Amino acid sequence: MGKVYKSLKKCRICGSKDLYKYLDLGKTPLANHLIDIKNADKKEDTFPLEVLYCKNCSLSQLSIVVEPEVLFSYYPYRSSVSKSFRKHCAGMAAKAAKILGANEKNENNLVVDIASNDGCLLQEFKKKNFRTIGVEPAKNLAKIAESNGIETINRFWSRKAAKSISAKHGKAKIIAATNVFAHADNLNEFMEGVEILLDNSGFFIVEVPYFHDLMTNNEFDTVYHEHLSYFLVRPLHKLYSNHNLSIVKIEKYPIHGGTIRVYASKSPKANLNISKSVEKFLDFEEKEGMYKLKSYDKLGSMAQKIKKELLAALKKLKEEGKKTAAYGASAKGNTLLNYCGIDSKLVEFIVDDTPEKQNHLAPGSRIKIVDAGFLEKEKPDYLLLLAWNFAKEIMQKTRMHYKRKVRYIIPIPRVRIL
Ligand code: TYD
Repeated sequence: MGKVYKSLKKCRICGSKDLYKYLDLGKTPLANHLIDIKNADKKEDTFPLEVLYCKNCSLSQLSIVVEPEVLFSYYPYRSSVSKSFRKHCAGMAAKAAKILGANEKNENNLVVDIASNDGCLLQEFKKKNFRTIGVEPAKNLAKIAESNGIETINRFWSRKAAKSISAKHGKAKIIAATNVFAHADNLNEFMEGVEILLDNSGFFIVEVPYFHDLMTNNEFDTVYHEHLSYFLVRPLHKLYSNHNLSIVKIEKYPIHGGTIRVYASKSPKANLNISKSVEKFLDFEEKEGMYKLKSYDKLGSMAQKIKKELLAALKKLKEEGKKTAAYGASAKGNTLLNYCGIDSKLVEFIVDDTPEKQNHLAPGSRIKIVDAGFLEKEKPDYLLLLAWNFAKEIMQKTRMHYKRKVRYIIPIPRVRIL
């Protein structure tokens, strides 16, 4: 690979150059670039994984930007693998229909999902008779969505994409963007696209992991190269105001370690007043010290503490002759494994139910990813939950299907053995 990344020179929302580095997780390979077993001998490129805080608008952001074509043209992550996420999507479609109002006929209304993945969310809108279009840059995912009957345009979101959808299908009543905002380098262009396609009476609905949860729960492993930004409400409010969009409502959900869902609508410039919901979050963030530099350094020390405790626990189990495997070859799991320096000597294999991930090696750690059938074959005593955000679902599932009694190691927010 040649030079496929650039350094961040200024804040991607407000343009300030006053950036402070508070987290350094070393150099790691790309967290979703799993290695084909055939290429096991090939060396991987590694990239600095550091987070900066914008002293002006409080956006946390990575110090580098890896080219999106490198990150997203093939993407092994499939939204529909998790039952809890499917349920979450159904809830979102129901709420979105409600917010549009009882007089709206769904079949007249277009819903566009940006980074629609395998069509998981749009399936739910389709069940409610909305017209749906997905925009998804990963070829493999667009193909899956199409085969499930979800019309999907295989491209990156941009002004151009917005114009072409608008010309062909008209304006959208709902534009959804779940777990993609953090991936966009040019957030201003992202918003310009939304301004083009969104109907005057429509809603732009964004979901992002909430940075306050990341800080409070030590979720440092959710830092990886795809996640360029880590959002508080303060920088979001600033971004939206620059694009004549008003945040009308914010809701919190536990999914993905703590998520905020932000509803916004178009408003004439004069009407960019702050809604109660935004005010509440801004006050909360201020009170929690989220706008003060000194709150930020603790994340690095917590990461070091978790590393020390996790390594000690895994080494002790090995000395005692216990067998440890992991569940969930998540991107965050790869940050955790690589930051802690865990390899197959300590964790023998990783189970993941995503067929695309199986029979690959995890980047950096080179631990083999396998299907759940391996649990019966290999009989591990302990399972390290790398997808700790789905701990309940995975524990239920393994208890039901795996005859042997197994114990669980949950690494975040602190190392616990259950
Ligand atoms: P996730 O935590 O959603 O995201 P990220 O990659 O952004 O860190 O990843 C969860 C992983 O766990 C994903 O690879 C799917 C896998 N998984 C299973 O294999 N089985 C399950 O039952 C669940 C809930 C997840």
